[in-house]
Amino acid sequence: MEKEKIIVANHKMNMVAEDIAEYLKVINNEALNKQVIICPTSIYLPYFLKRQYDVGLQNTFFKSEGAYTGEISPKQAASVGVKYTIIGHSERRSHFKESENDISKKIIEAIKHNLKVILCIGETLEDRNLLKTDRVLKRQINNALRALEKEMLDNVIIAYEPIWAIGSKKTPSNEEISTTVHYIKAMVSQYKGNEDIMVLYGGSVTNDNIEELNKIENISGFLIGGASIEVNGFIKIIKKVVVNQ
Ligand code: PGA
Repeated sequence: MEKEKIIVANHKMNMVAEDIAEYLKVINNEALNKQVIICPTSIYLPYFLKRQYDVGLQNTFFKSEGAYTGEISPKQAASVGVKYTIIGHSERRSHFKESENDISKKIIEAIKHNLKVILCIGETLEDRNLLKTDRVLKRQINNALRALEKEMLDNVIIAYEPIWAIGSKKTPSNEEISTTVHYIKAMVSQYKGNEDIMVLYGGSVTNDNIEELNKIENISGFLIGGASIEVNGFIKIIKKVVVNQ
């Protein structure tokens, strides 16, 4: 049976307390379900917990406790009711020099504590222009998943986010995304034994292009940054993808 689509909001480092208060007023009045996952800046996490939607973190560390100033462990996240964690976002890879080895360790630690991992992968514009997209995705997938036990893969969701599409108002064509999703599923099946893995698309998804992107036959949902900040527009996106109106 086909899994229901999900929508993941990545707030990144946006909004101050007043904005969050306004956001909550709107979102908590909507009849949402667990197909919606909000990943707020972690300082605001408690405000989003125990609602009709699920909550994720934008990053978690690869240790469960200890002297790691500034980090949050999957064990801590799970203890307050967080269900998801985004791992390997391109902004973490580039700004914070997160290595593919760190990413692999973060995935394993998160799954040990029953979090679902949203693993982000994607190519740069340079990779794309040099026709290296498949090669880059293959390397990212291999390095992220190689050390996982097979059952752990049931807790992995992949978000295909071309780096050049993030925050740029540009997206690949539906055909390109669909072909890449096929490729990702085939890669993952080498570890999982089947292609039953959710693959999301992320990068400049908006209320204007969501209907078109939602036509991609093999997509399992979307990871949304900028367009998840403006709550009314975000609700419209949710309604077009996960709520049957
Ligand atoms: P964007 O970001 O929707 O603003 O392009 C997506 C992401 O970085 O996850």
